[in-house]
Amino acid sequence: MNEPDARETVADSLRAWRELPYRVEDIFLTTGAFSALNVALNAILDPEDEVIFISPPWFFYEAMILAANAIPVRVKMAANFDLDLGAIDAAITPRTRAIIVNSPNNPTGKIYPAQTLRSLGLLLEAAQRSPDGQFTSSQTNLTAR
Ligand SMILES: Cc1ncc(COP(=O)(O)O)c(C=O)c1O
Repeated sequence: MNEPDARETVADSLRAWRELPYRVEDIFLTTGAFSALNVALNAILDPEDEVIFISPPWFFYEAMILAANAIPVRVKMAANFDLDLGAIDAAITPRTRAIIVNSPNNPTGKIYPAQTLRSLGLLLEAAQRSPDGQFTSSQTNLTAR
């Protein structure tokens, strides 16, 4: 499944499509998104780490986070089904390790606007790393460029 040729093909395709510098080592192929999420969560999480997920969620996120011995942190979507960036920022703590964002979203079908994702990127960039490597909330002004 995770064959070098296949990874190279995916990296080439994503570089052309997204115009971003994907490397072969950035690509890891699994049999389905469930496996990919499970591998990723178990690779990055220590016990008591927190993972933010958007509510309403795909039904298995919370169980997957719990199964990785981490703490699920539910953040409600905005009224227009978009990401509520203020609520996400407020949910970030020194134990936050990840946020799961899926677009088009299941179950709402919402495709997050590029502007929202840019703002989320700014928010996460602005989150400061404390000396032990954990994120802390920036509580920044989220006005996107
Ligand atoms: C949001 C989301 N994540 C993960 C999965 C699991 O994907 P897969 O069936 O490829 O393992 C699904 C499947 O519907 C999904 O909707």
